[in-house]
Amino acid sequence: MEEDTKRISIVVMIAAAVAMFPILTRAGGSSDAPGRLFHSKCSACHSDQIPLNMEKDRRGWEETVKLMQQKRPGFISERDAKIIVNYLLAHSQSAFKGK
Ligand code: HEC
Repeated sequence: MEEDTKRISIVVMIAAAVAMFPILTRAGGSSDAPGRLFHSKCSACHSDQIPLNMEKDRRGWEETVKLMQQKRPGFISERDAKIIVNYLLAHSQSAFKGK
């Protein structure tokens, strides 16, 4: 009887670990890397709601991000800028207006 209880609790622990795995890896994983990059860079000086509530096309976002890069040289790399422009096209008001 006691052996059964032990065996069941081991099975339950393994099942719990398996069930937790996607939750833990999503939290620390790379599936939302562009979003986290955007938040870390674009909320450093003002709310990230400012760009999110705006509607711009690709050129517009490229110009805005370039301007923000110049405000703190070295903080937003060229690679970051490209990822952030794509993120904004997909997540700002631009996405809802189909620009
Ligand atoms: C080093 C500080 C700093 C960082 C980092 C920064 N901003 Fe700004 N941002 C400002 C300041 C200061 C203003 C006020 C208006 C101005 O000076 O152009 C502003 C204004 C804005 C505006 C409104 C004005 C406009 O030109 O449309 C937008 C949109 C914006 N920022 C987007 C972003 C985005 C997107 C990022 C991330 C790539 C970002 N900001 C990162 C300092 C920053």
